[in-house]
Amino acid sequence: MVLEHVSLYDFEAAAERILPPASWDFIAGGARDEATVRRNRLAFDAVALRPRYLRDVTRRDLTTTLLGSEVSMPIFVSPGCMQWLAHPEGELATVRGAGAARTLMIVPAETRAPIADIAAAATGPIWFQLDHGDRGRSADLVAAAEEAGCLAVCVSTGAPFAAGNERNRRHAFSVFGGQPAEDVRTFGFTWDELDWLRGQTQLPIVLKGINTADGAHLAVESGAAGIIVSTDGGRLVDTTLSAFESLPEVVKAVGGQIEVYVDSGVRRGSDVLKALALGARAVGIGRPFYWGLAAGGADGVARVLELLRAEFDIAIAFCGQTSVRALEPNLVRVPAGWGPVA
Ligand SMILES: Cc1cc2nc3c(=O)[nH]c(=O)nc-3n(C[C@H](O)[C@H](O)[C@H](O)COP(=O)(O)O)c2cc1C
Repeated sequence: MVLEHVSLYDFEAAAERILPPASWDFIAGGARDEATVRRNRLAFDAVALRPRYLRDVTRRDLTTTLLGSEVSMPIFVSPGCMQWLAHPEGELATVRGAGAARTLMIVPAETRAPIADIAAAATGPIWFQLDHGDRGRSADLVAAAEEAGCLAVCVSTGAPFAAGNERNRRHAFSVFGGQPAEDVRTFGFTWDELDWLRGQTQLPIVLKGINTADGAHLAVESGAAGIIVSTDGGRLVDTTLSAFESLPEVVKAVGGQIEVYVDSGVRRGSDVLKALALGARAVGIGRPFYWGLAAGGADGVARVLELLRAEFDIAIAFCGQTSVRALEPNLVRVPAGWGPVA
């Protein structure tokens, strides 16, 4: 059944058929008019590949490292809450799917299974995503994650308040035990709290949702090990730039000092190549792994990742490249007005 899906969009259609409307809308939705959700896609389509032919591309190496961990490709699973809405096995299925594809999963803060069980089911690297609020709770969560074998802490920075997903309100769907989402102040993370967090753990800290040069400078100064440029898939603030458009600014500001990744809108292997060509070390997927989960549990997640891998492999071959760690410059053309490209 799962095998007949030929692109991520087939998984999307299957997930929409399978899931109850409230769960589907929770996963698919974005903030307000969902302009950023659309812009995340449009930005990838607006960047053009510049293929190079007549090269020997029979051998291609897609492997890379993420903070030192070897992965089979520069594509990872971004953190996503409430994965059990898509499949009863939730994060346990996702971690098996990511492991089968030999890549990283970022485990969300709120999981049904204990972090130790998720880690025990992992065959690839895992990081832990923290929604920081109360210091005591964060210290406990991070200690448990470190103990379980998570290799980094990813802090989601972009959500001082819960987002305005109006689809959820129409279904009276709440992530927060019945409270209207916009009344909930979720995370109290600030630059000062980052200093505190650094004192709590030996693990490297990755900041998710840093999309500007000034934020990137602060991240480097604060000792962060990586940045995920992200709009949370357009789920937080509407009418922002897409994450992909923000990538060159962050890459330039960071100047190679720490790793930069991007998520939000990645649906095609060519998107992966475009992101790498603009300086990302790897890309994350959010909604597509939920679609895989809904369609086929762990196998579905693995299949989504394998489809993206196959497309990415073809894209690098068409562009005359043989190693993701040594891509040549000028593989893409960005639209005028995108600002400086590193
Ligand atoms: C249903 C859902 C739940 C999410 N929950 C979280 C979360 O708890 N923490 C977080 O940092 N990001 C969360 N995200 C955002 C993802 O990590 C990621 O940034 C985003 O989905 C990427 O965009 P894409 O869905 O277009 O691939 C969530 C995304 C979805 C779709």
